[in-house]
Amino acid sequence: MTRVPFRLFLSVVALALAACETPSAQPQRHGEAMAVAANPLAADAAAQMLREGGTAVDAAIAGEAVLGLVEPQSSGVGGGGFLLFYSGATHHIDAYDGRERAPAGATPDMFLDADGHPLPFIDAQASGRSVGTPSVFAMLKLAHDDHGRLPWAHLFEPAIQLAQNGFAISPRMATYIAYATDHGHLRDDPAARAYLFDENGQPWPAGHVLRNPAYAETLRRIANEGPQVLTHGPIAEAIVAAAQREPYAGTLTIADLQAYAPRRREAVCGTYRVYRVCGPPLPSSGGEAVLALLGLYERARPHPVDTSNIDDWSAFVWASRLAYADRDHYAADDEFVPVPLHQLYAPHYLDQRAQLIDLAHAPHSIAPGQPAGQAIFERWGRDQPTDNPGTSHQSIVDADGNAVSITATVESPYGDQRMVAGFFLNNQLTDFSFTPTLNGKPVANAVAPRKRPRSSMSPTIITDRQGRLVLVIGSPGGSGIIAYVSRAIIGALDWKQTPQAAVDTGNVVAANGTVRVESPRLPPGVAAGLTARGWSVQEIASEQSGLQAILVTPQGLVGGGDSRRESAVRDVPPH
Ligand code: DON
Repeated sequence: MTRVPFRLFLSVVALALAACETPSAQPQRHGEAMAVAANPLAADAAAQMLREGGTAVDAAIAGEAVLGLVEPQSSGVGGGGFLLFYSGATHHIDAYDGRERAPAGATPDMFLDADGHPLPFIDAQASGRSVGTPSVFAMLKLAHDDHGRLPWAHLFEPAIQLAQNGFAISPRMATYIAYATDHGHLRDDPAARAYLFDENGQPWPAGHVLRNPAYAETLRRIANEGPQVLTHGPIAEAIVAAAQREPYAGTLTIADLQAYAPRRREAVCGTYRVYRVCGPPLPSSGGEAVLALLGLYERARPHPVDTSNIDDWSAFVWASRLAYADRDHYAADDEFVPVPLHQLYAPHYLDQRAQLIDLAHAPHSIAPGQPAGQAIFERWGRDQPTDNPGTSHQSIVDADGNAVSITATVESPYGDQRMVAGFFLNNQLTDFSFTPTLNGKPVANAVAPRKRPRSSMSPTIITDRQGRLVLVIGSPGGSGIIAYVSRAIIGALDWKQTPQAAVDTGNVVAANGTVRVESPRLPPGVAAGLTARGWSVQEIASEQSGLQAILVTPQGLVGGGDSRRESAVRDVPPH
């Protein structure tokens, strides 16, 4: 048994901290900028704004407007997101919450059938009930009011031109048209059918040039009149009509759209080795869960070795299981339920929880901890999350040393699979627990009117203890995001991988009883090594992370875009 005695552990950590050198020992090179985005056309638009002297927020808006066109299966005007902004001048990090809210008419049992059983996921996804208030551009406007430099309307020009003149469907977008036809109802929506399928009802292939004048018009209106065109007037009426359509008509109203406001909130920050790690606030579990996972990993592996070391992976799997168990139990919209947020990653709680870790053996089971006592622990039943591939991430650093990490999503491929004014509505409300109770206890993440569903999105910004920028990172991937982002952070900071190697290394996801191991991208022996220690391993050919990372090094900004998806890195050298 390789459990580390706690006192010895503390002194080892202290020595390790003293010996450790942060990658950002030198400041960012003056005037250099970089954008890493989920699609090359989006990265180009972001880089264009950086070249024109725009801030990281300006670049993110231009990038997101293009992503909504070229990656509509993942994110866009109809969805939501979380954004972190790091100020190069003050080192302060602002978090922006653009998470969709449930309508006032939402009910805890709206994803249950007449017999009280959860609806099949696809029926809930491609339904009116899953649609939350579209909110990503309202959030981006708030961030632009705070930190933008270029005029708001200018940021939409690249996307409007592409929508008007046409763009070639990417292989990934084509794959997901076919996927959402076979596993969904994409072709049943008249607007989606006219846009994504030929006259015989066949999905357009990769390379086909698509034009989307309706999207160009929506963007023109957002550009000229602001995001309120999505909450007042004909676009808002079309959103509501689509959400109220059968099957499984939802209750979203104009009043719900107009009652929504994005929020500027404190980022969730804590320490990891010599670093300060900041992530999004609730209702994303990503901020607390990445901090808890990393904190547990640090305690179990004061001296991590490399990607082939089974103790490193065993520690990662243990830390994941412990962090996910707490996240599933406690994390939810803190406007509606009491969440012991800070306790979940408090050092003394992680010290205590790390004592469960036995690197040589897998546990029989893992229960959530009690960071805030028995009463709140006993209040909830554990959520049973489901996942689907549809989300985009951008990591951006501008010439003033500001940074943005933004993860945006329509939730599942093509979201709700209902198209309005050139964009797809989200199905974000399927991130709520379908069952409002477990063994007679309420689930913290149950549906409630005007509540926000729990997210796993983890846009993350890491600095050194002096506040100098070190790493900007994030990923799509549903609840796997927490594992993807944490693993890549360990890769870049502990295993000293380049950002490209850190994003491309195999993922290991241990959210529940099974440990998913992306073996083709890992050194031989990782799956076997974990199996030998008693973990129930499932080897996976490909995990759908879409990590985008920027590391600040003495040589300048170094980017890495996930080769599993269509990521692109754009370097903007100083003039
Ligand atoms: O907010 C969340 O955590 C999910 N709706 C994100 C979905 C996702 O990342 C699907 N990804 N590929």
